[in-house]
Amino acid sequence: MPVITTIDDLKQMHRRRAPKMFFDYCESGSWTEQTFRENTSDFDKLRLRQRIAVDMSNRTLASTMIGRDVAMPVALAPVGMTGMQCADGEIKAARAALKFGVPYTLSTMSICSIEDVAKATKAPFWFQLYVMRDEEFVDNIINRAKHAGCDALVLTLDLQLLGQRHKDLKNGLSAPPKLTPKTILNIATKWSWGLEMLQTKNRSFGNIVGHAKSATDMSSLSSWTAEQFEPKLDWGMIARLKEKWGGKLILKGILDVEDAKKAVAVGCDAIVVSNHGGRQLDGALSAIRMLPAIVAAVGTQTEVLMDSGIRSGQDILKARALGAHGVMIGRAYIYGLGAMGEAGVTKSLEILAREMDLTMALCGKRDIADVDRDVLLVPKDFEGDWA
Ligand code: GLV
Repeated sequence: MPVITTIDDLKQMHRRRAPKMFFDYCESGSWTEQTFRENTSDFDKLRLRQRIAVDMSNRTLASTMIGRDVAMPVALAPVGMTGMQCADGEIKAARAALKFGVPYTLSTMSICSIEDVAKATKAPFWFQLYVMRDEEFVDNIINRAKHAGCDALVLTLDLQLLGQRHKDLKNGLSAPPKLTPKTILNIATKWSWGLEMLQTKNRSFGNIVGHAKSATDMSSLSSWTAEQFEPKLDWGMIARLKEKWGGKLILKGILDVEDAKKAVAVGCDAIVVSNHGGRQLDGALSAIRMLPAIVAAVGTQTEVLMDSGIRSGQDILKARALGAHGVMIGRAYIYGLGAMGEAGVTKSLEILAREMDLTMALCGKRDIADVDRDVLLVPKDFEGDWA
């Protein structure tokens, strides 16, 4: 067993264990992948201030997210096709999150259904909604999430059309994988993934298949998105969905101050500053660069979370220092899941927590609530002077 000390160790294991089409799906950005790359490289531009001779005992990362107590201010982001990285992946990730004490978000485009996850975890999770053209399907899935006891709805607003990820097209991404000579050859080398997959019934989009009337080729995320996602989604529709849901609402995919203000005007419990992990608008600025201006504009009116680019506990501290109340992680836990199932997600969370805890101490802080701009050195041109 290798000694696993970083999220990158888990990524290498994930790469070896999962079929190429699913690892590539996780590891892709859209088009040139500029935004995908800058989401992480912009974190490297921020530096931490070393402080000494302060009491470093009794440290805590405990916080709250939209009123829920959390072990650290980190939620597992909704990730499509999680159950293809590892059999029953959504259930395993939800269980690991629950045991660790952080929220789990189930994607509309998950493999295990809302009901499967609710039955297996017996604890509230957050549900992420993509708005479809089929209103009956949307009403129905909102009711299913209510019925399952989901305690927040995460409405994703930056993916009504799918940004093109070249690798997915070249690999013929689908769930379940279409058996071509190329995929058979690749899957034949992934025997532990395959053995587990044979033992589960969850191998297609569990929230959709059997629930949406017009699911034609449901195996392909790109054709389903093009056919079914509602391209007319606007703030009026968002307001109506908020009424239908009636519970806590998180608006995800905000990357612009004007949109952040509109999100606050419509009413929400939190926003997630995000560019969808660099998977949508290639050429957009990184989420960490956009964060300070958005916090300055709406940070006193709603909880500002961020995602896109978090790969370490140090990154989480940097996001906190620039004003994020908390973060969402996607790839950082999917690597763990793809590497080692539930134990791998736990490992990812442990790595992030340990990095955050020790780094916070080395910056002279003992409580995550006290981490602010003071722990950072920010280059003068970090946010950039864009006209
Ligand atoms: C879906 O959420 C994706 O980014 O592929």
